[in-house]
Amino acid sequence: LTLPDTTRISSAASTGDCVRAVEWSDAALKLLDQRLLPGEERYLALHDAPAVANAIRDMVVRGAPAIGIAAAYGVVLAVRAGVVRHGAQWRSLIEPDLALLSSARPTAVNLAWAVERMRRAVAAAPDSDPESLLLAEARAIHDEDIAANRRMGELGAALIASGSGVLTHCNTGSLATGGFGTALGVIRAAHGAGRIRDIYADETRPWLQGARLTAWELMRDGIPVTLIADSAASLLMQRGRVQWVIVGADRIAANGDTANKIGTYQLAVSARHHGVKFMVVAPTSTIDFATETGAGIAIEERSGVEVTKFGACRAAPPDVQAWNPAFDVTPATLIDAIVTEKGVVPRPDPKNLAALR
Ligand code: MRU
Repeated sequence: LTLPDTTRISSAASTGDCVRAVEWSDAALKLLDQRLLPGEERYLALHDAPAVANAIRDMVVRGAPAIGIAAAYGVVLAVRAGVVRHGAQWRSLIEPDLALLSSARPTAVNLAWAVERMRRAVAAAPDSDPESLLLAEARAIHDEDIAANRRMGELGAALIASGSGVLTHCNTGSLATGGFGTALGVIRAAHGAGRIRDIYADETRPWLQGARLTAWELMRDGIPVTLIADSAASLLMQRGRVQWVIVGADRIAANGDTANKIGTYQLAVSARHHGVKFMVVAPTSTIDFATETGAGIAIEERSGVEVTKFGACRAAPPDVQAWNPAFDVTPATLIDAIVTEKGVVPRPDPKNLAALR
């Protein structure tokens, strides 16, 4: 575990960070509907746990830390419903809601991690008026995520030499977290410290998180970004325009194998071929020490319609078969550094990752 010198980087000095995907207000969970961006900015107000689980499954909210935070607030709503229906016996009613939240998407371990942490708060809560304690725990998960992101921003930016070009994949920013972002937090902090020459975002088919979300979020914060088609990434590297590929993670196995948005693995292969460094940025809540290697990580498969259409527009013959894995696993051997809030793990393996336990 290493702690790079961050004296010349202050995440607080970085530009913008004005977008929030998850908010608790007026006793309801408000989610920015990310399916509509960048065309429309609309918040949905959710009042019960099944609605939160649906919003997670349907990608209203997405990104590993953000879905964990949304689920934590979902537990607050489950407990509230339990109290309304069963009074002091509320605990006997909430388990189906907790199971629904925890299983809404399979790959991001932050989801099950957040529900487990809320389960411990449920066990400690009083029989009458439990909501304030549970809300405090959900808010703590939310606040700790933002603080972790700021710390990772400083640690990761310290690894980037001045004048570097960087490429990122999917959306790992404020939209994907409690705020500030993981990989995008590092990019935000490095930009604030004047270290970055160019930021490239690839479009990230089929959901276009890069085109629709990362480009929108960075432009909103006044950070210049250049969008590329996913298939332009190797040429970008061959031309020497990027020195780092910087991505987030949905689950990191105990040996450092990392599940992240589909397309991450091919970027890591290409980065190694071209001598470009590859950085994974994730809070320790994304590390799953119970899973030994990437082979044990469940990969979500979504509807083929997401591939045969481009947004609302059909892009393939109506009956063509399509395969749509939403994540892939990058072997630890292709990763130069995993940046967490506790420190940087260079060239991850089971031994050096265990230092984060
Ligand atoms: O399917 P998504 O949009 O939820 O996938 C998101 C990603 O793969 C992110 O890279 C990951 O969750 C890290 S977000 C800080």
